[in-house]
Amino acid sequence: MAMKPLEWINGKVRFLDQTKLPLEEVVLSTDDVAELAEAIRRLAIRGAPLIGIAAAYGVALASLQLKSGERDSARAFLQSTIDLLASTRPTAVNLFWALKRQRRIIDGWETNSITDLQHRLIDEALLIHQEDYAMCEHIAVFGVDLLPQNCSVLTHCNSGILATGGRGTALGIITKAWEIGKLRHVFIDETRPLFQGARLTAWEMNQANVPATLIVDNTAAVLMKQGKIDAVLVGADRIAMNGDAANKVGTYNTAIIAKHHGIPLYVAAPVSTMDFKMKTGQDIPIEERDGKEVSEVFGRRITPQGMTVYAPAFDVTPNELISAIVTNRGVLFPPFSDSIRVLLSQI
Ligand code: MRU
Repeated sequence: MAMKPLEWINGKVRFLDQTKLPLEEVVLSTDDVAELAEAIRRLAIRGAPLIGIAAAYGVALASLQLKSGERDSARAFLQSTIDLLASTRPTAVNLFWALKRQRRIIDGWETNSITDLQHRLIDEALLIHQEDYAMCEHIAVFGVDLLPQNCSVLTHCNSGILATGGRGTALGIITKAWEIGKLRHVFIDETRPLFQGARLTAWEMNQANVPATLIVDNTAAVLMKQGKIDAVLVGADRIAMNGDAANKVGTYNTAIIAKHHGIPLYVAAPVSTMDFKMKTGQDIPIEERDGKEVSEVFGRRITPQGMTVYAPAFDVTPNELISAIVTNRGVLFPPFSDSIRVLLSQI
């Protein structure tokens, strides 16, 4: 894919409007942090790691509006930007992780030079972006080792180039497996309600020439029964200390049916997706989206007028349904409370 989903170019954030894919490749550019926040909220920029990267750039953008080097007012202004960006989406912890890194830069700014602060915030955002690229590469290398030769896998949602600063998490493993001749086929859940699988993962697989088949989410069990799936690979938006993992709604269903059929389910995520303060998945805040995203398909109502809708964007897969968690620091196996604690002690 020639176009990156998000780039910092001369004091502006340039991004692909993912709501328009795959029919149109619309590139937008902004120096307005409110516009960037809105792009995150409406899923033009989406996927846990990419949201974090975008938020880091958002703080850098806001700093470019500062006129004076008066520290208290500059800090207050930037904190209001952080609050705005933090309010966009609640589930992916990468967002809050990246904002915390920018807050640390702001707190450590001791000079009265506004240009110094601006440079530091831009550099930190660029670093977060570069680190995510590298984390994706490591995840792919660790993840392919879990897959059998000539495998056929299933994935849910989009965890690829469009969701990260690099090749992706779960989808990065899949493209890596294809590159080294280990993958035969990928099945893609369409991922209702917003079709991240049908629109975005299918688009990425097309671009990378990976043999792929789209299914409606409810077809996964049939495929598993037919013996056509060797492994399920998914990303995550937040992983608790006991290994419970929040990801796009429907992941939990997929994990249950994978367990029933004896198929391993691997969750792939960088350490920036781990919430070391959250003991279990029970406390992970789950975003509820506008019911229209379910009752309407591409702006056209498909239900009776006024139909009540429940639209959580994510669910939490309990750790006992997860075979391994692939991180940029290596593969974690159950019991996750132990393996995650060891990982935390090394960071
Ligand atoms: O609502 P979205 O499209 O932002 O949800 C994205 C997902 O659930 C992804 O699977 C997750 O962020 C992992 S992406 C590396």
